[in-house]
Amino acid sequence: MTNADSGAAQPALDTRRHFHEIASEFDDLYESESRTSLRRWSDSMLRASVYRRFELVFEQLGDLDGKSILDMGCGGGRYAVTMGKLGARRVVGVDFARNMIELAVALRSKEGIGEDRVSFVCGDAAETDFDEPFDYGIAMGVLDYVEDAEGFLRVVLPKITTRMVASFPVKWSIWTPQRKIRYRLFKNCPLYFYSRARLESILGGLGLRSWKIHPAHRDFVAVMEP
Ligand SMILES: C[S@@+](CC[C@H](N)C(=O)[O-])C[C@H]1O[C@@H](n2cnc3c(N)ncnc32)[C@H](O)[C@@H]1O
Repeated sequence: MTNADSGAAQPALDTRRHFHEIASEFDDLYESESRTSLRRWSDSMLRASVYRRFELVFEQLGDLDGKSILDMGCGGGRYAVTMGKLGARRVVGVDFARNMIELAVALRSKEGIGEDRVSFVCGDAAETDFDEPFDYGIAMGVLDYVEDAEGFLRVVLPKITTRMVASFPVKWSIWTPQRKIRYRLFKNCPLYFYSRARLESILGGLGLRSWKIHPAHRDFVAVMEP
């Protein structure tokens, strides 16, 4: 496995720094309720999407026994470790935020899963090479931060043989304007949103065997068969 993340463009560097800094805060969405009621309220929609995305991935991938899976932008390893627990033969999680990878490694140890079954790599998912293709790939909550989603998919899809699931934030949601402004002004972290028509045009141009879009609160979840 090799990776080359030194030539990353500025938006990607800002996104990496952002997730490095807020790793625990994001990962806590899977665990505890936020402390203040204002924060609880603002997190509620994000949490609904995060939970629905999680359910959809496991619904769409079905039996993981013996499968190999690439988790792109794996964050704190919630998907990857669960996949290992569900019998996947090999899961590789890639994330360019080092604190996320540290959380993922800690979760794997806590759950008693071996590194031979679930491993984590710190690097850019589009720039990391692997020795073998994977049955399945996922990129959940990642394309929100990728300027060229189509280019990203063109690079990663050849690494996947059977099915890829990825989420895309919806353009027309009441949450979109505040999220976009908040991230741009206070985090210097650009976000990218998708109308269904734009997403259909991207998926339709990829030469996939089949694809389907599922709604998931403030996200679309695309299931692709390369
Ligand atoms: C919103 S979090 C989602 C984490 C995880 N997929 C989940 O749903 O729990 C997005 C993650 O994608 C990572 N990320 C974004 N772009 C990436 C890229 N090009 N390569 C690797 N990681 C990336 C960020 O560092 C962050 O940890």
